[in-house]
Amino acid sequence: MEVHFFVGKGGVGKTTSSVAFAVAKSLRGFKTLIVSLDPAHNLGDVLCVQLGEEPKKVRDNLWASEVDFDAVIARHLKSLADRIKDAYAYLRVLNLDKYIDTLRYSPGVEEYAVLEKISEIVRSASRTYDVVVFDTPPTGLTVRMMILPFVNKMWLEKLIELRKAILNRRAMVARMTGEKPVAVIGGREEKLAVSEEEDPVMKELKKMLAENEEIIHLFRDPSTTSVHVVVNPETLPVLEAERACAVLKKFGIPIKSLIVNKVLPEHGISEDLRAKLEDQRRALGMIEEKFRGLKVVYVPILPFEPRGVDKILEYAKHIEPLVG
Ligand SMILES: Nc1ncnc2c1ncn2[C@@H]1O[C@H](COP(=O)(O)OP(=O)(O)OP(=O)(O)O)[C@@H](O)[C@H]1O
Ligand SMILES: [Mg+2]
Repeated sequence: MEVHFFVGKGGVGKTTSSVAFAVAKSLRGFKTLIVSLDPAHNLGDVLCVQLGEEPKKVRDNLWASEVDFDAVIARHLKSLADRIKDAYAYLRVLNLDKYIDTLRYSPGVEEYAVLEKISEIVRSASRTYDVVVFDTPPTGLTVRMMILPFVNKMWLEKLIELRKAILNRRAMVARMTGEKPVAVIGGREEKLAVSEEEDPVMKELKKMLAENEEIIHLFRDPSTTSVHVVVNPETLPVLEAERACAVLKKFGIPIKSLIVNKVLPEHGISEDLRAKLEDQRRALGMIEEKFRGLKVVYVPILPFEPRGVDKILEYAKHIEPLVG
C-alpha cells in the first residue's frame, strides 16, 4: 500500500493537490482513500460531498473521510487512562479522571492523538485500499506531528532506563529481605514487581516503544510513504517549505516531490501585474536552487476554482508525473 502526505503553508493548495492526486490514482484503478487531518476540514467542500469519520464512497475506487478531532482526542485519552489503570493497578484509588482532564489541554496531546489515528488508519486501510492520501493542516502543525515519534522515542528510551534502575533496586531489596518490597497506597498493600517480565509498567513502556517504532518506520520508508510539499511561487511559502524540508530530512523523513501551484502565465499578464510576475520569477529561481534533485511539477493558476471532480481533473493533469 502507498501512503501520501501533502504538506505546505496555509492556502497554497494542499487540499486541492491531495484530491487531484487521489482522483488520478482512483482513475488508474487503485482503491484510494483520502483522509483530511486538518481540524478546519474542507475536503468535503472540494469534493462537493458531506463527509464524516467513516470513509464514504465518492466515486469508483475513491473513498473519503474527515477525522473528527474531538472524538479522536477523547478516544486517545480514554485509551491512555485504561493503559495507565492497567499498568498502575493501585492508581485506581487516586483521582485519575482529574489527571486525564488536565491532559486534554496539555501541549502535544492533539498531535499525539492524530499520530495514533494515522497508525490506526494505515493499519486498517492496508486490508482494503491500495493508496491512502492524507490532506494535512498547515506546515507547523504537520511537521510537529511528524517529528513527535522521534521525540517520543528519546523519552521512552530514557524512561525504560529509569524503570530498569527502579527494578534493579527493588530486586536488591528482595534479595536482602527475602521478600518482594511492598507499597502501601490508599491503605492497601501492593507487592511490587522486581523483574522486567512481571512489571506492567515496563511492559507498557516497551509496547509504546514498539508502536512508536512502527510509525517511525512508516514515515521513513520511501517504498510506502511519500511526502509531497506544496508551494506557491512566492518567497514566504518557499522559505517555509525549505525549513520544513530541513526538519523532516533531519529526522530521516524523505521528501518525494514539490508542487509549485498557482503559477501565473508569462504572457498575457496585464501591466499592473508585471511586478507580481517579477516576484514569481525570483521565487521560481529560489525553488530551482533550494530544491535541486527533487521532482518538481508546476500547476498554473486556473481561471476557475478547482472544486468538484470535473474541475479537479483539470488540475490533476498538471500533477500527472507524480501519480506514476
Ligand atoms: N491552481 C489553482 N488555480 C486556482 N485556484 C486554486 C488553485 N489551487 C488552489 N486554488 C484555490 O485556492 C484556495 C486554497 O486551496 P486549498 O484549499 O487547496 O489550499 P490548502 O493549502 O489546502 O489550504 P489550507 O491551508 O487552508 O488547508 C481554494 O479556494 C482553491 O480552490
Ligand atoms: Mg486544506
